[in-house]
Amino acid sequence: MRVLVTGGGGFLGRAVCARLVAAGHQVRSLSRSRHPELAALGVRQRSVDLRDRQAVADAITGCEAVVHCAAKAGAWGPDAEFRAVNVRGTEHVIRGCLDNGVRRLVFTSSPSVVHAGRDLEGVDESVPYARRFPAAYPRTKAVAERLVLAADSPRLATVVLRPHLIWGPGDPHFLPRVLAAARAGRLRLVGGEGKRVDTIYLDNAAEAHVLALDRLEPAAPICGRAYFLSQGDPRSPGELLNALLAAAGLPPETRRIPPLAARAAAAVLETAYRAARVRAEPPLTRLVAAQLGTSHWFDISAARRDLGYRPRVSTEEGLRRLAAYLAAGPAPAEGR
Ligand SMILES: NC(=O)c1ccc[n+]([C@@H]2O[C@H](COP(=O)([O-])OP(=O)(O)OC[C@H]3O[C@@H](n4cnc5c(N)ncnc54)[C@H](OP(=O)(O)O)[C@@H]3O)[C@@H](O)[C@H]2O)c1
Repeated sequence: MRVLVTGGGGFLGRAVCARLVAAGHQVRSLSRSRHPELAALGVRQRSVDLRDRQAVADAITGCEAVVHCAAKAGAWGPDAEFRAVNVRGTEHVIRGCLDNGVRRLVFTSSPSVVHAGRDLEGVDESVPYARRFPAAYPRTKAVAERLVLAADSPRLATVVLRPHLIWGPGDPHFLPRVLAAARAGRLRLVGGEGKRVDTIYLDNAAEAHVLALDRLEPAAPICGRAYFLSQGDPRSPGELLNALLAAAGLPPETRRIPPLAARAAAAVLETAYRAARVRAEPPLTRLVAAQLGTSHWFDISAARRDLGYRPRVSTEEGLRRLAAYLAAGPAPAEGR
């Protein structure tokens, strides 16, 4: 198929592009900047901002399927920017699909759409959307996800994937923050060891996108549905953070702060940064405090059953690959 991947140059998008190319698809990527690694894969690129409705429609012309992976991610930033990219941009993608006769749309969402900051332990997709969100990112992803699910129709088959905390070589988000905080002596574990969190290794998340695309056609059983995706291997946040530190050759962190203190500190910092109109992200945000201090892991039986998803790269194997990647060059925070 001729497939457009939005955000094909991003962390997940690039891995999705590589798998689609390997599976024999003709792949085009849409994002604001050009990414040399995509050119090396044979992926054509369109320099387009998701906020530009006509340009998005033009980039979709001639494609048979769209994987909508681009988003403004992060724990901090102006609400209006998250809305414009994540909500308005998704509206533009859906409209572009409908106007161009595209019949398949895979949307990359996030389990954070159901996480209101309380423990979620082994819940499946019947769990409702959160009513209150700790940040604009999950709030706008939830709106976008609903738009995609509502767009499912005989004309356009849609499916939503919710990969949980993606990690692996090239991570520009979570890993650099953890490593920078650890190197600066600012990292703390939040709460005791009683909580459990699941994650997903990059290659497993990318493979799930290809599996979903393979199974997506109008009236297929996966249409109009959302799927949690993870390693199926929840662990304590301390174990996970320390495994990442070990992969980077850093010593484990043992210092802890109570979850309530973390949340209070995050709220105070966010208020102070907003009042002072500081654009930089505070050292602790409510989103990160909630992620570190609560259980959040999901039942992935639906993805196993309907998508044929299996976390083929185990957590241990992923950690070995990550350690090899980090040992081979500069840390991601330094520009890889
Ligand atoms: N990383 C995670 O742990 C995680 C977990 C769950 C879900 N997700 C979802 O997975 C998807 C990919 O995330 P990621 O971690 O790969 O993020 P990423 O590395 O930041 O990639 C996002 C991509 O979106 C593009 N993009 C951003 N704003 C754009 C705009 N206005 N117009 C056009 N393109 C734009 C960026 O390319 P340019 O900068 O070149 O425009 C970039 O390639 C997102 O939908 C995210 O919500 C991620």
